[in-house]
Amino acid sequence: MSTAPLLEVAGLTKRFGGFTAVDNVSFGVGKGEILGLLGPNGSGKSTTFNCVAGMLRPTSGSVRLAGEEIGGLTADETCRRGIGRTFQIPRPFRGLSLLENATLAAHYGAGGGISREEAETRARDALRLAQLPDDPHATAHGLGAAGLKKLELARALATQPRLLLADESLGGLDTAEMHQAAAMLKRIRDERGITIVWVEHIMGVLLSVVDRVVVLDHGAVIFQGTPEAAQADERVAEVYLGPPESRAA
Ligand SMILES: Nc1ncnc2c1ncn2[C@@H]1O[C@H](COP(=O)(O)OP(=O)(O)OP(=O)(O)O)[C@@H](O)[C@H]1O
Ligand SMILES: [Mg+2]
Repeated sequence: MSTAPLLEVAGLTKRFGGFTAVDNVSFGVGKGEILGLLGPNGSGKSTTFNCVAGMLRPTSGSVRLAGEEIGGLTADETCRRGIGRTFQIPRPFRGLSLLENATLAAHYGAGGGISREEAETRARDALRLAQLPDDPHATAHGLGAAGLKKLELARALATQPRLLLADESLGGLDTAEMHQAAAMLKRIRDERGITIVWVEHIMGVLLSVVDRVVVLDHGAVIFQGTPEAAQADERVAEVYLGPPESRAA
């Protein structure tokens, strides 16, 4: 892992009317790193992603990718600069095959500048990385929660990102599936060198694969450090488990 920052978020704030969903958030992600972005429901994780990936315009603050300011760019612009993302709620084109879904994503990521064959090659590679069938007849019908999340991942990978923002929120997966999802992200980083920010609100599985964690609460960063330090941190414990006197022995 190199320490050159690929993503630098500085003083990022997003307000919806009078409500501050992301409050002066700053963190960096090193090239080749897997960063876990943690926090309870509603703590601002997806909103942070949306500001980085151009689905939302930041109210203030800076977002830099490889040193270049990208805050305020649109989603297709950030995608073409190398940011791929998955959505917490998968919305594939259900009438299309898995391969067609991923092929469309490949075209989108390339800004339309590649041939049908090249898009399909990228799509097949992405489907294989996500451990989904790449035969033209396989469809999204009948995919369970785990399969739909893999398809989200395949669509993001087909855009050939250098930074993957994975809004997984593992709800709907059983323990074995969660471990598989974690192992898959680790493999994607190890084999392809793709830098990953992984959003999750369940700590256990995530802490086993990430290099570093950032913990949000009410839109603000309350902790940054190693997974080990996060587990020992009293504020993190309080956010997740409640005040010490209310915890079961
Ligand atoms: N478009 C919006 N308009 C108004 N409020 C919003 C909007 N999007 C998010 N919020 C609010 O901002 C806060 C942060 O939401 P966000 O979706 O970022 O949380 P999260 O950390 O991703 O939560 P979860 O773990 O449940 O996915 C929540 O209170 C949410 O209701
Ligand atoms: Mg969310």
